[in-house]
Amino acid sequence: MAQGMGSGRVPKVLTEEARAWMTAQVESYQKWDLNAAGVGRALYLLAGFVFVSVVIFEQYSKRKERLSKLPPGPFQWPFLGSLPHLLLTAGVRSSSRLREKVSALATKHGPIMFLQIADTKILVISSGVLAKEVLVGHDAEFYFRPRCSVGKYLGFNFTDIAFAEGRHHWYLRKLCDTRLFSPECFVSNLHFQKKEAKKMLHSIWEASQRGEDISIRETVTTFVRNSLCGMLLGTAHLDIENISIKFSEETLNMLLDETISVAGEVTLSDLAPGLKWLDLCGREEKMKDLNLRLKAYFQEILDDRSHRVNKDEPESLVDVLLSLDDDDKLSNEAVVGILVDTLIGGVYPISATIEWALTELVRHPALLEQVQMEMIDVVGPYKIVDESEFPQISFFQAIVKETLRLHPTVPMSLPHMNKVATPIGQYEIPANTSVVIDYSAIGRDPEIWNKPLHFDPRRFTDTDAASQIDTFKLLPFGYGRRGCPGANLGVILLQLGLAYLVQGFDWAPIGGQLPHDYDVKESSGLVCFRSTPLTLRATPRLSSTLYEI
Ligand code: HEM
Repeated sequence: MAQGMGSGRVPKVLTEEARAWMTAQVESYQKWDLNAAGVGRALYLLAGFVFVSVVIFEQYSKRKERLSKLPPGPFQWPFLGSLPHLLLTAGVRSSSRLREKVSALATKHGPIMFLQIADTKILVISSGVLAKEVLVGHDAEFYFRPRCSVGKYLGFNFTDIAFAEGRHHWYLRKLCDTRLFSPECFVSNLHFQKKEAKKMLHSIWEASQRGEDISIRETVTTFVRNSLCGMLLGTAHLDIENISIKFSEETLNMLLDETISVAGEVTLSDLAPGLKWLDLCGREEKMKDLNLRLKAYFQEILDDRSHRVNKDEPESLVDVLLSLDDDDKLSNEAVVGILVDTLIGGVYPISATIEWALTELVRHPALLEQVQMEMIDVVGPYKIVDESEFPQISFFQAIVKETLRLHPTVPMSLPHMNKVATPIGQYEIPANTSVVIDYSAIGRDPEIWNKPLHFDPRRFTDTDAASQIDTFKLLPFGYGRRGCPGANLGVILLQLGLAYLVQGFDWAPIGGQLPHDYDVKESSGLVCFRSTPLTLRATPRLSSTLYEI
């Protein structure tokens, strides 16, 4: 009988009037009901909107708070972070110039700059004071390396010196200080280095007699490589008698050249391993191939030496590595890693530094004349300079220091990394940030150095350069746990090579060029060479008997 009000049906017994009244009431109720449902929905929507806004606001405030503790840097886009800035400046494939672009961005944003790409964080340090905080104040936190493909393939599964961490790294560094690159080790190998320096002098003298121009890079690289091979392997050349090495000396040169070139193609994925997918140039494949070829090459040498090593009298660095006691024994992979680190870490930075020094001396003939006069005063014209005389040739020393300041051949550190959040100045650096230190910017900091881009060795004749290095005004060899283990060896070899060249010859431009036609444009890559190999004309300055070997 009675129908639900919502159905809109009215009993027939009612008068017309009553029916009309009731119909009106029902319609009015239905309207109200509809409105009420609308309001309810609106309220729900409003509540939802308020909730989402609160969540977004909270996230935004947290991000803002987090960002306020981070160092300055380019604007960070959601998810992409600073990637658009780097791509705009560096490009994905023009990775070879990435170092320069990062440096350029830092000039805009200051001596401490933070970049974030996806979940990868990068800190760029370009002042001595801040470098000191990282390398001294927080050396223990920042000495790790990000796990990148270079470490896996060219660092031999992170077992070499440059990519090892923890106890293994500590042990390798101790080995470097006490057995491999100690001053005693250098002294006992000095005859190799001097013999090779003399051979270099002889080859230049011969070329000058034939009226040929001298390719400085080629000549100097041969000197440094043979000197280091002598130290490592007990012989400058690998194809010595009785060694069943299938490969020639040329094979080693090619392997080293390829390794430095691939390692030097610094890509975003080195700074940020999370960006491995950006490896569009097949670099990882090249590194895998090199890893196998380097291992095959050096294994041959290790096999040969291990038959001959006399535990009581190790002669070369390889012999030292092979004669370690069982408890300290290194894997073959680690030994190959150390050999590759020493050759790559030594050959290229030392040769590049000598090439830069000669470039500057040719651009500034008065300085070349001054240092040659100093050599005549101290050494005399009848003999070749001896390493014991180095401390007395102070202007020569100043030239070496000024070259290392203006042309640091390792211009940027390999990436360091912290595993825990670390304060630097007023900032909080999040855990797992890749940190690169721009050593080149530190040596050219206009706040520290007067006319920083001028080559002026006189700035070191008054000041004690050691104190310059202590005060972090100059860091050509890095510092702390990751500082260069071959720094002393590097300095002695580069002094030896440069001193022989400067004392032995007058150097002049070729092809009618003037001194200032020789530019100082830099190559890209891990080691910074002059962008064009230096070629000069040499005129002997000493009696011809002094060039004989
Ligand atoms: C003029 C010559 C040299 C220069 C300018 C130079 C420069 C540097 C710099 C700046 C670093 C520190 C990179 C960082 O902070 O991550 C470094 C590290 C290194 N250098 Fe040198 N170096 C030279 C010679 C040598 C020599 C002769 C050797 C080997 C005999 C060598 C082997 C190494 C190794 C293995 C590392 C990595 C250390 C580690 O991560 O623990 N370097 N070098």
